[in-house]
Amino acid sequence: MAGQIPRAFIQELITRTDIVDIIDARVPLKKASNQNYTACCPFHQEKTPSFTVSVRKQFYHCFGCGESGDVLKFLMNFDRLEFVDAVEYLAAQQGLHVPYETRPGSHHKPKENHRNLYDYLQAAALFYQNKLSQSAEAMRYLDTRGLDKTIQARYGVGYAPANGQALTQYAHVDTSNFPHFHAAGLIGQTQSARYYDVFRDRIMFPIRDRQGRVVGFGGRIFQNMTDKDGQPLAKYYNTGQTPVFNKSAELYGLYEALQAQRELPYALLVEGYMDVLALAQYGFSMAMASMGTAATKQHLERLYRHTHKIIFCFDGDAAGQRAAVKALATALPLLHDGRQLQLIFLPDNHDPDSFIRAYGVDAFQQQLTQAQNFDDFFWQMMRKDAELSHAGGRAAFYQKAMDYLNQLPQGKLSEIMHQELTRLTRIEAKPAPTPPSKRIVGEHAPLNLQEKALALLIQQPSLAHTTTLAANDTSPSPWRQALDALIALTQEEAIETTAALLYHLQNHPQEARYAELACYPLLTPEQGMAEEFHDCLQKLQQQEKRDMIDSLMNKIRAGTASLDERQQLQTLLTNPN
Ligand code: UTP
Ligand code: MN
Repeated sequence: MAGQIPRAFIQELITRTDIVDIIDARVPLKKASNQNYTACCPFHQEKTPSFTVSVRKQFYHCFGCGESGDVLKFLMNFDRLEFVDAVEYLAAQQGLHVPYETRPGSHHKPKENHRNLYDYLQAAALFYQNKLSQSAEAMRYLDTRGLDKTIQARYGVGYAPANGQALTQYAHVDTSNFPHFHAAGLIGQTQSARYYDVFRDRIMFPIRDRQGRVVGFGGRIFQNMTDKDGQPLAKYYNTGQTPVFNKSAELYGLYEALQAQRELPYALLVEGYMDVLALAQYGFSMAMASMGTAATKQHLERLYRHTHKIIFCFDGDAAGQRAAVKALATALPLLHDGRQLQLIFLPDNHDPDSFIRAYGVDAFQQQLTQAQNFDDFFWQMMRKDAELSHAGGRAAFYQKAMDYLNQLPQGKLSEIMHQELTRLTRIEAKPAPTPPSKRIVGEHAPLNLQEKALALLIQQPSLAHTTTLAANDTSPSPWRQALDALIALTQEEAIETTAALLYHLQNHPQEARYAELACYPLLTPEQGMAEEFHDCLQKLQQQEKRDMIDSLMNKIRAGTASLDERQQLQTLLTNPN
């Protein structure tokens, strides 16, 4: 069970952080006005920017797709962080330590703090790097592979010693380290409870996440190819699933690629560690590897956030073709207009590493230039064994192609592909109609007075600090209860921004409505908000008074009014305002 992070700490974090900095580092923002920045929305495909970030509200909102939230929600959605990791990330940026509180009376231990694991993985990476410089064989091997020292250093290549106890002994300075190294996938434990190194006598490739933290390793054997029992060992051993490593989301080399250039003109997706290193050494620093497995949707989605073009690089053999078909099927649903996909098939059973060393930079550059476009490859693949000369063959072809094309998101690319199918089969092929998106730009139901007051308060919480509603205990109307509650909350928690207020309203029954009001395009300029808010309150209170008078009059007419109520009506009618 997780130790709770105090709300006050999270509010403090949201307040200290500038959402503009965080978003701008990921999605370059343009200044639209004093208080607002815009960009094309990173959460849906669009050509004209409807994504806005408000400095004052510390809140982002897209008028196109309706996505909105505070800096934590942005990090969770964009960097795909868990809530706790997003908090840890912001805290680290502010130089703060996240306090985890254990609930009193709880018997649960506080949650294993992942940040620890990063520290252990980083320590191990340095340990292996250091061991590399002490191993003549390991260095010689990298030398025979032609790997520069600078590239080795940039990617943090290391060596795990052969005796199987090196890291274990290093960790032994404090036995409380073992569970952490174990959780990180670096130290194993036998049935007799003995600890041992998971990686032995291997060249070590640290895998870093987007923030440059080591999350796992790949280790390559390079000399003795069998284990003690004479069984051949797998060439590579990779860290399995751990709390901080998810193989189907991480890409080896992505961090280093983004370090080498802020903007990726394209991402070159290869298979192996050695491919990434060789390409980087020859100047292609935008190479990254899915580490032997097929690229996942998560991989590709992540890449399309950093570039508009992905180039897959496959071996030219049958396995390469099969891998390409698989990659294509994964990529189709992501091919919004503006995104490109290309494929390279290297000749002569080369992988990128061996190709560039055999034929040189220019030859590889030429491969890139001549990369096959996705549609070209697609039709080529479809037409294999297709029989377009007779009706039955065309019908089968149509069905097979439609199964793929229906995966494409709505857009021009989809239309063009369907047109091509029509041309080939003479059967009319049309994209499946997609349901209209939930929200449409500019479509906002007008607000009534009460909603307007709430919207103003949510968008400018500091209004609460100068507001007192005239007391009315007799019959608090729903609007009064809602406003009273928000004003009280804002005052008690000393809330200054929309983001902080909405944070406190999580799980409130009206949470979704309040989030909508936070984004409602009020036309009031900032200086006018206080006046408008008080104006709204005034009108609401007048309306409240009129309603009271009406209801009391009705009671008097019906003869059911008490003496108290008669007096109340008297006061209401004689008191102005
Ligand atoms: P390759 O066998 O093509 O190796 O596997 P490689 O990258 O070309 O390495 P060298 O040139 O032989 O040194 C491609 C990738 O598949 C994964 C690794 O990520 C490897 O880089 N793989 C391969 C494994 O995870 N385990 C294995 O046993 C083999
Ligand atoms: Mn290779």
